[in-house]
Amino acid sequence: MLDFVKVTEAAALAAARAMGHGDNEHADALAVEAMRKAMSHLEIKGRVVIGEGERDEAPMLYIGEEVGAGGQYEVDIAVDPLEGTNLVAKGLPNAIAVLAVSERGGLLHAPDIYMDKLIVGPAAVGRVDIRWPVARNLEAIAASLRHPVSDLTVVILERPRHEQLIKDVRATGARIKLIMDGDVSAAIAAAISGTGVHAVMGIGGAPEGVLAAAAMRCLGGEIQGRLWYRKDVERDRVKSMGISDPDRIFLTNELVPGKNVIFSATGITDGDLFRGVMFFSGGMRTHTLVMTAQAREIRFVDSVYVSEPREIGTIRLI
Ligand code: FBP
Repeated sequence: MLDFVKVTEAAALAAARAMGHGDNEHADALAVEAMRKAMSHLEIKGRVVIGEGERDEAPMLYIGEEVGAGGQYEVDIAVDPLEGTNLVAKGLPNAIAVLAVSERGGLLHAPDIYMDKLIVGPAAVGRVDIRWPVARNLEAIAASLRHPVSDLTVVILERPRHEQLIKDVRATGARIKLIMDGDVSAAIAAAISGTGVHAVMGIGGAPEGVLAAAAMRCLGGEIQGRLWYRKDVERDRVKSMGISDPDRIFLTNELVPGKNVIFSATGITDGDLFRGVMFFSGGMRTHTLVMTAQAREIRFVDSVYVSEPREIGTIRLI
């Protein structure tokens, strides 16, 4: 499990160098390269099922790429070396490097299109339904947490497509946190009590939906997702991928059916859950959340990379 921490740490350390430089592609390329390199040291026979795109559009970590140094462990891997490219480019909070691992077939091969999502923490599991009106879901979440609806905070990506959703949430009196990017990070926050986030609603990437589902499997939260199409060709593509009902609702266990799941996310910029990469004279420091579904092991890992051992005295307590 800790081996995978090094992989998200490597991506975060690389991407953090590009914070605020205004160059999304460069930040992403740094993260991808570093993650790919770190993965090549792992004793796994890995196959990327969620990655940087199809083989012809991504040089590294493309869908179907075989990764790892080989060995007896055959796994499927979902990666997003830089979740929140804009956030890093602008130096905004909550950018993470993230991956999920499961046995072969344990992660849905989600198409790179949009997904409408409803994500809640453990208390509200089984009590919500993405097909219900927003107000009914918020009442259910509020009842499960024994809060009034007006105390809830819902995270929504700030996009024109969410105009009606935002109106509907506002009409209930619930609070909203609009985010520029990064709904995986928001999903994790929704499943951890004390973060002040009670639900994530709205349309984001489907691959990010699988990563969020892996986190929910480990944290005991729930995601419900429905693919959201902009063009007919996307619907046709989904059917050709073997999903016979393109409008079906995917539950957490359908997005991530694997028995064994490992999830690791390292902060790149400071966020609600953990600090971003910190550089100090003589080294760097990272914060990672790493978890497993089967044993429900959840760890926050605080790593220090010392490049100048003589300067070790400069590490600061947070
Ligand atoms: P990138 O890191 O690939 O830019 O994705 C960030 C993100 O905000 C995701 O968290 C979210 O699911 C998706 O993009 C939303 O897509 P869009 O920006 O097209 O609305």
